[in-house]
Amino acid sequence: MKILITAGPTREPLDPVRFISNRSTGKMGFALAQAAAEAGHTVTLVAGPVTLPTPAGVRRIDVCTALEMLDAVTQALPACEAFISCAAVADWRPETCSSTKLKKSEMSGTLRLVRNPDILRTVRPLKGTRKFVGFAAETGEPTAEAARKLRDKGLDLIVANDVTAPGAGFATETNRVTLLTPDGSREALPLMDKLEVARRIIAWLEA
Ligand code: CTP
Repeated sequence: MKILITAGPTREPLDPVRFISNRSTGKMGFALAQAAAEAGHTVTLVAGPVTLPTPAGVRRIDVCTALEMLDAVTQALPACEAFISCAAVADWRPETCSSTKLKKSEMSGTLRLVRNPDILRTVRPLKGTRKFVGFAAETGEPTAEAARKLRDKGLDLIVANDVTAPGAGFATETNRVTLLTPDGSREALPLMDKLEVARRIIAWLEA
């Protein structure tokens, strides 16, 4: 298969030195890219700003903002049979971005934000027979929210995890996830290495 994967956070600049972002490190998305490439698939990895090396055999496109990620996904998707949206896309960006460093005397203490597009929803008209896999990172029991996102975003599979659970979440080597599909089936996987979780997700796509 030709598989498109997004990974990492997006970074939304306020000026050349400041940004808003989130705690994603890209580990889960890069593990997916590695697992897919090792299984013989052709992988395009759209990566937000992370410090991880590119897995062998993977075509990597680096982006910074959600709008840049959307652009890269829109261009790469038509040639792919599956899209795994693992990135922690920032839902909001500063309304304006200054080309020079803002002086604190020029800042009011209130940051005006505008909504970023939802990448999965935006590219849904291009889905066709492609398989779409999403992630739901929640704080607390994740499956109810994940089931809602699975339905709302028209996904074939969603990977739910509680980012506050021991051994799960940001910057960890391991994850504990539940796989949910539109037919209502749920598979709760034990705590395992992110690469092992990634191999399970790629195996699901292959099946
Ligand atoms: N996602 C996306 N574009 C966004 C936000 C999220 O494509 N602007 C994708 C993520 O890559 C993930 C899925 O949507 O696969 C769920 O992301 P999540 O942040 O958990 O959900 P949100 O849609 O942002 O919903 P909420 O803020 O209500 O949790």
